[in-house]
Amino acid sequence: MDSQHHTNWESIEQIAGAVRSCTRCVLAETRTNAVPGDGSPTAAVMFIGEGPGQNEDEQGLPFVGRAGKLLDSLLEQVPLQRSDVFITNVVKCRPPGNRDPEPGEVAACMPYLEAQIDLINPRVIVTLGRHSMLRFYPQGKISNDHGRIISLGSRILLPIYHPAAALRNPRLNETMVRDIKRIPEAVREGLMLQSSSREGTSQAPNEAQDQAPASQDAPSTDAAPASEHQDDSDDRDQMSLF
Ligand code: URA
Ligand code: SF4
Repeated sequence: MDSQHHTNWESIEQIAGAVRSCTRCVLAETRTNAVPGDGSPTAAVMFIGEGPGQNEDEQGLPFVGRAGKLLDSLLEQVPLQRSDVFITNVVKCRPPGNRDPEPGEVAACMPYLEAQIDLINPRVIVTLGRHSMLRFYPQGKISNDHGRIISLGSRILLPIYHPAAALRNPRLNETMVRDIKRIPEAVREGLMLQSSSREGTSQAPNEAQDQAPASQDAPSTDAAPASEHQDDSDDRDQMSLF
């Protein structure tokens, strides 16, 4: 992921505008509405699904169908509201018949997701489902890695199952509740990572996706305690959620 490839979008709304009129791949031909993403432009936690389904395509909003209702009930368990987080997808337009997106479509759409991550600068990326996890953590295995706190450069990755999987297999519900309840802990870990990476040098650009995540539960045992992080209002706003 290379920020040089980004057009210089300055806001989440600008990115959304570019997505809504995008014709970079064939999914533009069959969409009703592109689905750029929704939520807080300063969210500490960003959720990333695979791609819009039929309801999302009709409404232009992410996770508004049955899987979305389940996601809402999971968020309540944390507790978080949609307006506290940012929710988007790897591809912004619905693949016809809900097929998996083609690699070329994912590649064409990736600059939007990269730009959203750069601008929002979330502490924690929660991937929904196996496909979305693999974009960030190619060596991952969803059955092993769901609910794990994984360091990805200066961010935390928390992979969870896709809510649609829990709709198909209700036994996953309990697991998903347990996994999503790790978000406050993941945000604290992410804050520690970012404050320790800020020490000494001016903040380096985040190239999280280029770095191999540490394959351990705790990102680092010698990170500064959360109470020592440099104060900035963003941190305070987001941390007050928990
Ligand atoms: N499934 C996804 O992966 N994304 C959505 O927005 C809706 C369902
Ligand atoms: Fe553009 Fe992404 Fe939609 Fe393809 S899926 S048309 S790249 S916004």
